[in-house]
Formats: sequence, structure tokens, C-alpha cells
Amino acid sequence: MPELCGIELAHPVINASGTYDAIAARKVFGDALLDDFPFAAFVSKTITPEPRAGNAPRRIWETPSGMLNSIGLPNKGLEGFLAEDLPQLRELPVPLIVSIMATTREEFARCVERVAARREVAAIELNVSCPNVHSGLIVGENPSETEALLQTLRPLSEKPLIVKLTPNVADPAAVAAGAERGGADAVSLINTLKGTAIDPATGAPALGNGYGGLSGPAVRPVALEQVRSVRAAVGLPIVGMGGIATGGDAAEFLALGAAAVAVGTENFRDPRAGSRVAEELESSLRPVRISEPALDLD
Ligand code: FUM
Repeated sequence: MPELCGIELAHPVINASGTYDAIAARKVFGDALLDDFPFAAFVSKTITPEPRAGNAPRRIWETPSGMLNSIGLPNKGLEGFLAEDLPQLRELPVPLIVSIMATTREEFARCVERVAARREVAAIELNVSCPNVHSGLIVGENPSETEALLQTLRPLSEKPLIVKLTPNVADPAAVAAGAERGGADAVSLINTLKGTAIDPATGAPALGNGYGGLSGPAVRPVALEQVRSVRAAVGLPIVGMGGIATGGDAAEFLALGAAAVAVGTENFRDPRAGSRVAEELESSLRPVRISEPALDLD
């Protein structure tokens, strides 16, 4: 059975944070969702210490083979999440990973302490890579800042800490190494690539925030290369993501050494994508682990 930082997974496919609203899905599909949940673990939408309304619309814009988003982390804040969302998310039949983002080490620490204290939380993802909020990337752009953040957070909980890396740096592997030195248990990558688009109807930026983050099949080769380079630099388990829409796509990430994969943008098109990708992996597209020397990718 696959596992991630000691968390047993029924299969290697989880969701990318913010791409699947399990609470809304439960309302639509009822308890049938629990009988056949699409992911082997559920990663929450990122929460922040205080509530956030999110960015001005428009927040989503379709691009060739992809999508730009500028959502801006709307959420109920730490206390709202713990009081209102966590009681619903704990009914899911899979391990729960809570995604956290803050702007200072102290605020990150407060979130980690409060969230890790809840028994229903299996692990915490530290989002140091959101391109859509002020200072969302500052820690995650810098290896020593990332290391220092982990050094602050590591003593606060024994639960696995997974660092969500940004692709918007020259050397993501150096940031991953900082996370490893600081005591992270795993890294997940990639978050979205910064991008923008012009609305042809107006000649103005299509997104309310002016720019956003690109995801979907268009980014998959970038994601694969970053997984390859991070794999070569650190020994941590990797959750690979970026444009996964089929079992074959997932197999590419696993072949490069990812321990698990996450489906993101494809969930908007197919809410059953997680199960489908897992079934495709299982039935016909078993990944072959490729060793670096044999592949000679450089
Ligand atoms: O804007 C957003 O809510 C996206 C967050 C992220 O990419 O981490």
C-alpha cells in the first residue's frame, strides 16, 4: 500500500489544495461521496490566520491547455475553519491534510499549533507558494527563509509537515533543500506558474488582480522537470502535481520518484478525476521507477 510520511494511502492519488471543495461536493452527492471518495487523502483549501475575502473578480480565465486563477485565498480564517469546516471534513473517509499560509513565522506557528492539536488532522501542508496574495511567495522564494520557517515550526508538532514549493524561482531544488534542512517531512510541487492574460473584449487584464497562476496540462513538462531536479537534490518524499489528467500523466511523476501525485485543475472538468486517474494507474499504466543514471536526463 502506498504511504506518505507514514500515512497509509489506498492509492497514490490525492488532490491539489484548493481544487476540490469536499464540503460542497458532499452537499451535491450526499453520502455517496463518502462511499467512493476520489482521493486517497484530502488536502484542504489553504487557510490563513484571519478570514480573507479573496481577490476581486474575474478570478479564473481559460488559456490554451490550461487555466489562470487569481482566487486570493478566500477562507474563514483559522478559527472559522476549526469551528465550521473541520467538523465536516473529518467525516471524509481518508486522511486529512490541512493547508496553511501565513505572513510571519509567528502566525505560521499559531496556525500549526492549533491545527496540529486536532486529532482528525493527519498532516499539515505549508503553502509558501501562493502567487495571488501579497507576500504569499516571500518565504518560499528563499532557501534560508524556508529553512528558518521549518526550524520554527518543526518543534511544535510531530505531525508531518509538507512544504508546497513554488515553481516561480530559478532553483526550486535549493528551496526544497532548505525545507529538508529545517526538518520538513515532504515537499509538494508545483504550485501555479505566474501568468497573465488580456481580455480581447476590453484590452485590459483578464483577471481582477491583473495576474494569476497558470495550471493545467500546459504546465506538466515544467512540473516534471522540477520534480526531477528536486528528487535529485533531496531525500524527502515528493507529492508531484502539475497538469495531471490521466493515469499516464500520473505515471510520469511516479517514474521520476514522486511518492504520491495530486490532481488539481482536472477536478474542475471531472469531479471524479481522482478515482479515474487512480484506476488508470492501477489497470494499465503501472509506473516504472526510472533511475537518474540510466535515464541520463541532463
Ligand atoms: O489564489 C489562490 O487562492 C491560490 C492559492 C495558491 O495557489 O496557493
